[in-house]
Amino acid sequence: MATEDYNQLFTENKELWEKRTDEHLGSEFYNVEEFIKGKSSLNRFELELVGDVMNKSLLHLQCHFGQDTLSFARLGASVTGVDFTSSAIDAARKLNNKIGTNATFHCCNVYDTRQHVKDHYDIVFTSYGTIGWLPDLKPWAEAISASLNSGGQFIIVDFHPVMWMLDEDYSNMKYSYFNDEVIITESTGTYTGNRNLHAPMKENGWNHPLSDIIGSLLNTGLQLETFKEYNGSPYNCFPGMKLDNDGLWRFEKWERKLPLVYGLKFRKTDLC
Ligand SMILES: C[S@@+](CC[C@H](N)C(=O)[O-])C[C@H]1O[C@@H](n2cnc3c(N)ncnc32)[C@H](O)[C@@H]1O
Repeated sequence: MATEDYNQLFTENKELWEKRTDEHLGSEFYNVEEFIKGKSSLNRFELELVGDVMNKSLLHLQCHFGQDTLSFARLGASVTGVDFTSSAIDAARKLNNKIGTNATFHCCNVYDTRQHVKDHYDIVFTSYGTIGWLPDLKPWAEAISASLNSGGQFIIVDFHPVMWMLDEDYSNMKYSYFNDEVIITESTGTYTGNRNLHAPMKENGWNHPLSDIIGSLLNTGLQLETFKEYNGSPYNCFPGMKLDNDGLWRFEKWERKLPLVYGLKFRKTDLC
């Protein structure tokens, strides 16, 4: 399928995300009130991989309504966020004004990043719930590579492709590990808790094996520096999870047996 053939599927996904934004803004999960008071929304996995951001430029892809983007701004980065949901980008701009940071936000498909963002960055970042919305990682990886300064780094921390093989209850294997086809499901709500937010809507997703994720980035010439897998999630956003004594959430059924999150760090060198 050519990228332009995915437009209908993107439109359906965007409608879903427009419906979710208000719900998320008022949710305990995102806890905007505490964020405004100064609480960071970033977790230990990404903080460890990204490292010190003071005086660095950072581009955040699929930034939703910008809490992570703005958390990096509070740590001293000069930040830009990209997302295709206009209500989320509006909310991100309002939050930016409210807390007095100096972020820029663009509303566009992540594939079109370079049409909207002309600068080059020390860090490109994306996390938790990102590439599962993308059919093809080649244009995604190309946009990342094209957005980096020489010497710059790309960091992704996201839910593990093994986890996306599980069914809606996360209790049995249902979907292919490989990107064989679009996975079309029906959604009536969202991961922040309200599972009955709207009438059934189509949700179009894609599974990407680690070989595709890593391979797409290597193919642009980026060099792999760090690859991590974690058996717990910092978020309680799937049914059947329980908080463990290390502060991470795990499926009660699977205990510590499954990889739930992975992290990758790539570097753009002069040779790229
Ligand atoms: C789960 S959020 C990820 C951000 C972050 N983990 C958070 O919770 O704030 C997924 C975001 O991806 C965005 N998104 C999905 N498909 C996209 C696309 N093709 N281009 C740009 N943004 C997209 C949605 O609008 C949503 O804001």
